[in-house]
Amino acid sequence: MKRSRARVEISPSILAADFACLERDIHAAEAGGAQRIHFDVMDGHFVPNLTIGMPVLASIRRVTTVPVEVHLMIERAGDFVDAFARAGASRIYVHQEATVHLDRQLNAIRELGVEAAVAINPATPVTVLSEVLELVSAVLVMTVNPGFGGQKFIPRSIGRIRELAELRARYGADFRIAVDGGVEPENVAEIVGAGADILIAGTSVFHTPDPSAAVRQLLERAQEALAVRV
Ligand code: DX5
Ligand code: ZN
Repeated sequence: MKRSRARVEISPSILAADFACLERDIHAAEAGGAQRIHFDVMDGHFVPNLTIGMPVLASIRRVTTVPVEVHLMIERAGDFVDAFARAGASRIYVHQEATVHLDRQLNAIRELGVEAAVAINPATPVTVLSEVLELVSAVLVMTVNPGFGGQKFIPRSIGRIRELAELRARYGADFRIAVDGGVEPENVAEIVGAGADILIAGTSVFHTPDPSAAVRQLLERAQEALAVRV
């Protein structure tokens, strides 16, 4: 099942940026055409790594005009969504696997005036989300196991993206499909062809000599693939 979407967005993940030069790196990504910024939060429990939190979000919020989407890879996300909303998140993803009362949590995020969204790990079937599809503005398909940047895209993720696009069509839902992990110019055509609308990319943007050019290249590849898909 193919569904035509107006555009594909690139959401650079600042996990791979230089934390001493976040403003410079974010502006470089914007100059390349990034329509949003991806902000990864890890707690050392849900995933085996620690990253950044609300004060860093509040600081970058002041130096960028594009929306910042927050990907919470943490337990007890409900204890923090209010603080992330106040720090300037435009969208908050919680993990299905870390959230016992997913319906309640997504509604609570919406009540804060923030877009609610949900993420799933590579081993989680997409159909587990069928009862919450109307509550979310985006579903994030993890295409690596969460916790670290720079991992290899898991090839069977393509089938999961396609399955989610089919589920969306079947339910008449209107969320965007975000893909996170191992996105690079070489696999963009296949990912967009399967139905993705938001490409989250860290290493392939910031671990290059020219992050603006890297975003531009991802965007061009995405637009080419979209033209074929539509
Ligand atoms: C991984 C994070 C990703 C990560 C992607 O757990 O959720 O957003 O930054 O990084 P790359 O593009 O390097 O795979
Ligand atoms: Zn992420």
